[in-house]
Amino acid sequence: MIQLSGLIRGHYECRSLTETIPVMTNLLALEVVAESARRAIVKHPNTAWLLVVQEAGSSAPDKPRMNHYGVRVATDQEIENAYEYLQKMKKDFRLKVDRIRDNHHAHSVHFVEPGGNWWEIESYEKAASAGMAHTTAPHWKKALTELDFPGRGYIPQALTHGTLQCDNLEQTRRFYEEALGLEVVQLWPTSIYVKHRSSPWYIVNLESKPGARQYLSSAQRFTLNVESALAVFEAHEWLKKHKDKFGLTELREVQEQAGTSCFLLCDLNRNWWEIASPFH
Ligand SMILES: [Fe+2]
Repeated sequence: MIQLSGLIRGHYECRSLTETIPVMTNLLALEVVAESARRAIVKHPNTAWLLVVQEAGSSAPDKPRMNHYGVRVATDQEIENAYEYLQKMKKDFRLKVDRIRDNHHAHSVHFVEPGGNWWEIESYEKAASAGMAHTTAPHWKKALTELDFPGRGYIPQALTHGTLQCDNLEQTRRFYEEALGLEVVQLWPTSIYVKHRSSPWYIVNLESKPGARQYLSSAQRFTLNVESALAVFEAHEWLKKHKDKFGLTELREVQEQAGTSCFLLCDLNRNWWEIASPFH
């Protein structure tokens, strides 16, 4: 398998930074840490995971609900409060807000931002107190307070997860464990949670019916880090050799880009990954 040092970024396509970034900062407690013409990088203060937000213009498609990102609050009551606040602000931010749902011990509300992407605000208060599993344990050491995110009635404490769809859970698990060396946690029959051992955030993989999926482009990808430029080439060689074994759809060539070496990989489920070196 290849040797990864982390799951470090998500790449997120929107239509307009002017519309999407205020949703992230005002409703999800994310902060802008870098900005350029059509790109912004955001992160949550308690989460080292970065989201690279790319402005793609009005033709960017709506993404499926099954490809959302999620932030977590500490208590179930905050979900009721978040729902109220989203209802109050939905005109200003041009949101579509779903009803509150309970699913697998998660109490949560989903909404769509005008860039065509779903978000979830979730509470795992009940699951955490039941000691369910380490994915549901709090992802923060020091909770943000009302002073950090005042006046909403809820406080996103971490950016906890992204979500992908897959065709076959067992084959997908094999790819994550045997090719990428990631940790896989299975709590329910139709989903697995995949994460790097060094960090708490994870990607939920939901098994979907064949033919029922809308595939994502490489603009909605996750970035995995290896320790050096040489390791990028070694990972590329290894994956090339094992492409058929793991049913990879596409393996692009290594590129030198903005001070890193990296390549794109389209996996057995036609989901996109980037393998990159640290900046050099
Ligand atoms: Fe979720």
